Amino acid sequence: MGLLTVLSALSLLGEAAYAAEFNIGRHISVAPYPKEDTMLPLAEFSVPFTAKAPRRSSKTSALAALRGKPANTTRSKAFGAGDASTVAVDGGNFDNEYLTNVTIGGQHFSLIIDTGSSDTWVAQKGFNCFDLDGNPVSPDNCAFGTDGFDTAVSKTFRLFPNVSFNITYGDGEFLSGPVGFDTVTIGGLSIAHQEIGVPTLAAWRGDGINTGFVGLAFPVETSVYNTTDPTKASNENQLPYSPLFFSAFFSLAFDRASFHQEVNDPFDPNLGFLSFGGIAPVPVVNRAVTVPIQGYSATKGIPSNGPGSEFFFYTVDVEAYTFPGSNRVFTANNNTVLDSGTTLNLLPADVAAAYNAQFYPEAVLDPDFGVYIVDCNARVPDFSVVIGGKTFSIDARDQILPASTDDEGNIICMTGTQDGGPDVADGIFVLGDVFLHNVVATFNPVAGEVTLTQRAKY
Ligand SMILES: *[C@@H]1O[C@H](CO)[C@@H](O)[C@H](O)[C@H]1NC(C)=O
Ligand SMILES: *[C@@H]1O[C@H](CO)[C@@H](O)[C@H](O)[C@H]1NC(C)=O
Ligand SMILES: *[C@@H]1O[C@H](CO)[C@@H](O)[C@H](O)[C@H]1NC(C)=O
Ligand SMILES: *[C@@H]1O[C@H](CO)[C@@H](O)[C@H](O)[C@H]1NC(C)=O
Ligand SMILES: *[C@@H]1O[C@H](CO)[C@@H](O)[C@H](O)[C@H]1NC(C)=O
Ligand SMILES: *[C@@H]1O[C@H](CO)[C@@H](O)[C@H](O)[C@H]1NC(C)=O
Repeated sequence: MGLLTVLSALSLLGEAAYAAEFNIGRHISVAPYPKEDTMLPLAEFSVPFTAKAPRRSSKTSALAALRGKPANTTRSKAFGAGDASTVAVDGGNFDNEYLTNVTIGGQHFSLIIDTGSSDTWVAQKGFNCFDLDGNPVSPDNCAFGTDGFDTAVSKTFRLFPNVSFNITYGDGEFLSGPVGFDTVTIGGLSIAHQEIGVPTLAAWRGDGINTGFVGLAFPVETSVYNTTDPTKASNENQLPYSPLFFSAFFSLAFDRASFHQEVNDPFDPNLGFLSFGGIAPVPVVNRAVTVPIQGYSATKGIPSNGPGSEFFFYTVDVEAYTFPGSNRVFTANNNTVLDSGTTLNLLPADVAAAYNAQFYPEAVLDPDFGVYIVDCNARVPDFSVVIGGKTFSIDARDQILPASTDDEGNIICMTGTQDGGPDVADGIFVLGDVFLHNVVATFNPVAGEVTLTQRAKY
C-alpha cells in the first residue's frame, strides 16, 4: 500500500524524475487494510505515571541487541548478527524514562514501563551488584529505588523451580536469577500468578527510583530459560511466557515535560497515563487509525506476514515521514518499532540526515557522539509520520532535547530525530517518546493491532 501511495503520488504530481532517488525495490507491508477513524472508548481506568527519572544510558533491551550492539545475547541470535554500524544515541543525562507504581506480592515498587521488551522483573532483596564488566561492586552502585523484592515476605510468591531469568540490555546492563509467580497490581488491576524475574545478580545503572521493569512486548522476547544455570541460557532452552497485560489491551499517553523540567527537575507528577480497556484520558483530536502489527520471520528476523511469522515488538509500517524536502528521500519503512523505552526517534540514516539539515541553524552530526547536535534555540522544521493513511504530527518541542552540558556548564542540545542506521533489510528503527508524546498509543497484542490517536496540542 505504501509503495502504491508513493508511486501514484509521484505520477499524479508528474514528478517521476524523482523516482531515481527512491529505492523503488522497497515496499511496505501488504498486511490487512488499516481501519481508519477508529475512535476508541475512554479507558475504564487509568494509572498515572508517577515519576520521570533521569534515564539510564540503556536503550531498550532487545532492540539494541538485535542491532548487534552486545553481540553476545541470546536474543541477538534470534535475529542474526544485526547491524553493528548503528550509532549509540542514548545516554543523554537528561533523557527520561516513565515509571509507575506497581505492587508485587504486597510490596511497592516504581517500575519502568517499556513496550520494547517483554519481561517484568524486580531486583530481589540481597541481590549482588556488578559493574558492566562483571566485577562485583557494592549494592549502592546498582542504584535501585528500594532494597529489592523480599520473596520470603510475600504470601503469594511461588518459585518456578529449575529455570532461570537472564537478560542483557542494549547498553550492556544485565541481570539473572530465579523466576517466580506473584500477584502484580498496577492501579486497580491485579494479575494473579504473573510470571516475573526476581534477579539476584544485577549489573544495573539505576536512577535511585526504579527497582525494575514492566515489559509489554511479545512472548517470543521473554527471557526465562529451562536451566538452573543462567549462563546456559540459549534459544534452545527458552521458555516463552505471556508478559503482563498480554491478554488486556492497554493505552499509553506520555506527556512531554517542559525543557526547563527536562534540565532541572527529575520529578514531575503530571506525566500521562497507562490505561486499560480504552483510550487514555487526555484530549485528542478526531484523527485515529488502527493498523496491524508487523510480524517478523522467526528465522531471518526481517519483517514478514507470511506463514511462520511472529510478533516480536510493536512494529508498524510507516508509509512516509513528511518534512520540508522529504519528497527527495525514500521514507517508507516497515521495520519501525513503537518503543516507550526509547526517548528518541531513531530513523533510517537518509531520513535523519535530510530532516536534520532542515533545522536553522542546521543540526550537525557530532563525530564523537554520533548524534545530531543542534542549537537549543534552533528553528524546528515540521515533521509528521504517516501511518495507515493518517498523518500524525510531532510538536516542535519534542525535536530539541537537552543532551548534556559542556565544560562550562552550558546545555548542549540534540535533535529528537536521530540516525538509526542504514535502511538495510534487517535494520530496525524506533519511534520513541519523541513521537509517543504526540499520540495516544493503544496496544492490542491479542488482536495484533495498534491504534494511534493524535493528541490535542498541549
Ligand atoms: C518490508 O520491506 C522489505 C524491504 O523493502 C521488503 O523486502 C519486505 O518484503 C517488506 N516486508 C513486508 C512484510 O512487507
Ligand atoms: C561473544 O562471545 C564469544 C564467546 O562466548 C567470544 O568469543 C566473542 O568474542 C564475543 N563477542 C563479543 C562481540 O563480545
Ligand atoms: C507512588 O508511590 C510513592 C511511593 O510509595 C507515593 O509517594 C506516591 O504517592 C504514589 N503515587 C501514586 C499515584 O500512587
Ligand atoms: C528440579 O530439578 C531437580 C534436580 O534436577 C529435580 O529433582 C526436581 O524434580 C526438579 N523439579 C521440577 C519441578 O522439575
Ligand atoms: C526442561 O527440560 C527438561 C529436560 O532437561 C524437561 O524434562 C522439562 O520438561 C523441561 N521443562 C519445561 C517447562 O519445558
Ligand atoms: C546469560 O546467558 C548467556 C548465554 O546465552 C551467558 O553468556 C551470560 O553469562 C548469561 N548471563 C548471566 C548474567 O548469567
